[in-house]
Amino acid sequence: MKKIIIAIDGFAATGKSTLAKKIAAALDYTYIDTGAMYRAVTYFGQKQNTEGCIDILQLIEALPKIKIHFESTAQGQQTFLNEENITAEIRESKVNNAVSDIASIGAVRNFLVSQQRSLGKDKGIVMDGRDIGTVVFPEAECKFFLTASPEIRAQRRHKEQLEAGNLESYEAVLSNVKARDHQDSTRKINPLRKADSALEIDVSSLSIEEVYQSMSKQILRVIET
Ligand code: DC
Repeated sequence: MKKIIIAIDGFAATGKSTLAKKIAAALDYTYIDTGAMYRAVTYFGQKQNTEGCIDILQLIEALPKIKIHFESTAQGQQTFLNEENITAEIRESKVNNAVSDIASIGAVRNFLVSQQRSLGKDKGIVMDGRDIGTVVFPEAECKFFLTASPEIRAQRRHKEQLEAGNLESYEAVLSNVKARDHQDSTRKINPLRKADSALEIDVSSLSIEEVYQSMSKQILRVIET
């Protein structure tokens, strides 16, 4: 079976990573969570200063020192920053609230886009993010763009966070989702937008399984042609 690149873009909390992982497992492809890479850089920037606020110039200068890698374990995919397992830390509110600012810095995007391209050079990957089908792999054979209302996405994220022990209120999660939508879609460099050839799916009233089924049909069509 030919190996392809599958790009999954869309708004926060539309189930991109759950779907990407499921598709990667079914095809025996590598899954790459590019949001985790932006989160790792944000976490690194926060750790550079004792007060936790990010000095952007200092962060840009230190980018070459940042090594991010993923490992598959029984507990799911783990994210490492310079050998430190930061899987839990990058989902905390402190990182949630700063990551869109960091993701709008051109030097950070260039640094991560080039790593993402090299991770996908041998194909056989499922990559999720905001600019995969438009910038990282405009030549990807299969592209998806997932949308849903902010309220539905905030409910999902709130539930996930509660399960992970983060007690942030639903209102705070909704306001973070809306702020990030705005920032991700209006930033000057590589904003979130649907690639012309991407299949758009509104997941608001669909289960993960239903979305997975429609994505699988599209992927099979591409792989078999
Ligand atoms: O998917 P996520 O919520 O983990 O993404 C975290 C942030 O990183 C989000 O604000 C958008 C940004 N991001 C991006 O700008 N480009 C990507 N390819 C992936 C994520």
